[in-house]
Amino acid sequence: MSATISHRAAIAAPNQALFPAAAERQQIDDYLTRELARAQERVASGSVTPTLDMEALRADLTSFDFASPRPLPELLDWAIPMLEHGVVHLTHPRYFGLFNPAPSFPAQCADRIVGSFNPQVASSATSPAAVALEAHVIRMVGLRAGFPAQCGGHFTSGGSEANYTALLCALTRAHPQFASDGARAFSGPPVFYTSQECHRSWVKIAHQAGIGRSAARLVATDGTGRMAPAALAAAIKADREGGCVPVLIVASAGTTNAGMIDPLTDCAELAQQNGLWYHVDAAWGGAMIASKKLRGVLAGLERADSATIDAHKWFATTMGCGMFLVRDGKAPSAVFQVAASYMPSHEVSVDPYMNSAQWSRRFLGLRLFLSLAAAGWDGQAAHIERAVAQTARIREGLERRGWLIVNDSPLAVLTVVPPAGHGEPRAIVDRVLKSGRAWVSLTHFETRDVIRICVTHGETSEADLSILLDALTQVQP
Ligand SMILES: Cc1ncc(COP(=O)(O)O)c(C=O)c1O
Repeated sequence: MSATISHRAAIAAPNQALFPAAAERQQIDDYLTRELARAQERVASGSVTPTLDMEALRADLTSFDFASPRPLPELLDWAIPMLEHGVVHLTHPRYFGLFNPAPSFPAQCADRIVGSFNPQVASSATSPAAVALEAHVIRMVGLRAGFPAQCGGHFTSGGSEANYTALLCALTRAHPQFASDGARAFSGPPVFYTSQECHRSWVKIAHQAGIGRSAARLVATDGTGRMAPAALAAAIKADREGGCVPVLIVASAGTTNAGMIDPLTDCAELAQQNGLWYHVDAAWGGAMIASKKLRGVLAGLERADSATIDAHKWFATTMGCGMFLVRDGKAPSAVFQVAASYMPSHEVSVDPYMNSAQWSRRFLGLRLFLSLAAAGWDGQAAHIERAVAQTARIREGLERRGWLIVNDSPLAVLTVVPPAGHGEPRAIVDRVLKSGRAWVSLTHFETRDVIRICVTHGETSEADLSILLDALTQVQP
């Protein structure tokens, strides 16, 4: 028998646990702000790596069957320590990690504001101000990257979504029937090119786009981690002769392993000669556009059809906040345009739901807007240059101790190996992580296992660098 609600019965009051009264909210909010600040202080002087007993946590989780409600303050007192002890701390000044930043304070403020208003940024009718602000920030970043006045793009969940968007734009431009027929539109299998050192999102993206993982041609590098232009040219030629249809060249500007920058101008030339879409995956390294002193290393980026630059990497916003930048701002609508009568606006030139992979969308752009507006390009440049200078300091310190620097990147990442007799990279990384004194990672770069060290925290101090060197070279505190 189905339950019915009598039209005469009184409607219940809002659920107080979900929607507490204003005074109670204020009290909890103040408490949360204070406790989070205290937790962050403890994080900075504690272990970078998790110390939580995971067995105990799993057991504790079983008590949350959600049958009976618990008071929110009690739950906050549970949730804060769970994170304080249960994750690797990106906010620790000795996290030398995988491009994930300690978030800037303006970006954190933006999250609070956005969480409070929760605007729906799918449509310009619903969120006209948010849509206009995001378009402005994207255009400013595009212009700073050297793109022309008609450039555009949008915020994404991260670099992977931005890269996926690039492949879809390339396929759509390569064949007018791709939109309706998918890969079947092409006379042969569509393929694209990136290097063996590319971010592995490209392999997943080939799968997601329906052209298959083998369509991602991973071109050989030159032995220093950069895509080899001759190998790229040969691969395109061989594919054409074999009946495949090349659609896209992807150059990395700041490889994930080692911060290497592919020959951007050579790749641009090859894309032009072959009539291919040219994308630069500058997810992390792209933030170098902020620095007038250092951005020359990205020469050739301005020739790209599109680029990925993640705000949640070196621009230090909270996650996830990527950017897809495109030379021709109208290009994404050819991929994402759609008719939906229930949507409150239908502006192909502006509506995010008609120009990007997402539909419902969080207001991400405020994070980068507040960061850039508060610090200016010069402040952002200082953040970048500081990380590069600290990387040089680590490099000197390790070289003085006989370590070998394997990569030659102008960015803020080192791949290193210890001198003979000091142990294998894997064992050293394990030891450092166990100590909780710093976070570095193990990776395979070109022909060998290396230790990867990336400066990602805007407040890492000289003392932190010394502790990192001690932890790597096993000097006890
Ligand atoms: C070069 C490059 N591209 C793409 C990505 C993927 O970005 P995200 O993790 O934001 O999806 C990364 C991540 O580290 C990256 O280094």
